[in-house]
Amino acid sequence: MGDAQTSKDSTTKATTAATPTVKRALQKRSGLDIASDYLQTAWLLLTVTVALLFSIIYTIFAAFKCLVPRKFRRHDITGKVVLITGGGSGIGRLVIQRLAAKGAKVVTWDVNEAGNAETVRLLQEAGYECYADTVDICNKEAVYKSARSLTDRGLQVDILINNAGIVTGRNFLESPDEYVVRTFQVNVISHFWTAKAFLPAMLKSNSGHIVTIASMAGKVGVNKLIDYCASKFATVGFDESLRAELMVNKKDGVFTTLVCPYYINTGMFDGVRSKLIPILEPEFVADEIVDGILLRSKEVVLPWYSNVFVWLKLLLHYDAQKFMLCKVTGVSKCLDGFVGRTPPTLQLNGTSEP
Ligand SMILES: NC(=O)c1ccc[n+]([C@@H]2O[C@H](COP(=O)([O-])OP(=O)(O)OC[C@H]3O[C@@H](n4cnc5c(N)ncnc54)[C@H](O)[C@@H]3O)[C@@H](O)[C@H]2O)c1
Repeated sequence: MGDAQTSKDSTTKATTAATPTVKRALQKRSGLDIASDYLQTAWLLLTVTVALLFSIIYTIFAAFKCLVPRKFRRHDITGKVVLITGGGSGIGRLVIQRLAAKGAKVVTWDVNEAGNAETVRLLQEAGYECYADTVDICNKEAVYKSARSLTDRGLQVDILINNAGIVTGRNFLESPDEYVVRTFQVNVISHFWTAKAFLPAMLKSNSGHIVTIASMAGKVGVNKLIDYCASKFATVGFDESLRAELMVNKKDGVFTTLVCPYYINTGMFDGVRSKLIPILEPEFVADEIVDGILLRSKEVVLPWYSNVFVWLKLLLHYDAQKFMLCKVTGVSKCLDGFVGRTPPTLQLNGTSEP
C-alpha cells in the first residue's frame, strides 16, 4: 500500500515537472497509440469477418454438394489397387468384397492366415482378383518388406485402408500391460508404418487415398475401453493431421477418409448390450465405408446421428455428461457382458500390475 502511494506521488511529481512541450509530445504520442490500437482492432475484425464469410460460403457449397445424389458423385475405382489390413474377417473382408465387385484389385494383410485364406477363397470363387499376405502390422520390418514385395509383383497401392484392430474391454487396472501395448501397436502405431510404406508413391503421383477405420470410441471416451479409446482418439488425430499436412503441401490428389462407427455385430465386441443406439449390422457398415471411399468423404460417422453425442460433449457441463453417460444413454453399462474375441497373436505372459 505504502509502495503504491510512493510510486503514485513520484509519477504526479514527474508530470507536474514536465515542460509544456514534453506534455504536448506525450499527449500526441498517446493519441497516435490510441489510433493505432483502433486500426489494429478494426483490421482484426475485418479479417475475422472475411474468414467467417468464406467459411459460410464453403459450408453452403459443401451442403449443396451433399444434395447431389450420391450416384453422380461416386468415383470410379476400376483397376485401382486397394490394400486393407485385417481383411481376414469382419468389416475388412466385407469391404474388400465390395471394392473388388467395383473393379478394384484387392490385397489383404492379416496376421490370421486362415482368415486371409478364407477371404481369398470367397473372392476368387466370385471371380475377383485378390492377393493375401500374412503380415503382423505391428512389425514395421514385416510391413516394409511386404510393401516391397507388392511393388515387385507390379502392385502399386492406390487406396490404403487401415482397418485391423483389437480390443481388451476391461477396467483400466485389470488390463494386462501387454494388451495395452498391443492395442496401441495394432490400432494406431501400425498406421504410421503402412502410411510410410505407401504414401511416398502417392505423393509422387499426387494421387491416392488413405482410409482410417477409427470408432465412435475415438470421439467419446467410455469406461472399460480406456486403452481402446485412447488408441482410437490417436487414429482420429492421425487422420486429421495427415489431412492438414496434405492440404498445406498442396497434395490435393491424395485423399483421406476417417470412419467412426458405433458398435458393430462382427464378434469383436461380442456380449455388448446397447440401450439407446442399435448395434450396427456389418453389411450396412461395409456399404457406408465403401461409399465414403467412392465419394472421397472426409468423415463417415455411423449411424450419422451418433454425432449428437460428440456435440453434447462439447456443449454440456461435465456433471451433465455423467448424467447422460450413466442414466440416459446407458453407455456406461454397455460392456458389462463383454466377451469379445481374444486377439489371435496375443500371448499373455505378464501381469496387469504396474
Ligand atoms: N466391431 C465393432 O463394434 C467396431 C466398432 C467400431 C470400430 N471398429 C473397428 O473396425 C475395425 C474392424 O473391426 P472388426 O469388427 O471387423 O474386427 P475383427 O476382429 O473382425 O477384424 C479385425 C482383423 O484385424 C486382424 N488383426 C489383428 N491384429 C492384427 C495384426 N497385428 N496384424 C494384422 N492383422 C491383425 C485380425 O486378425 C482380424 O482379422 C477395427 O479397427 C475396429 O476397431 C469395430
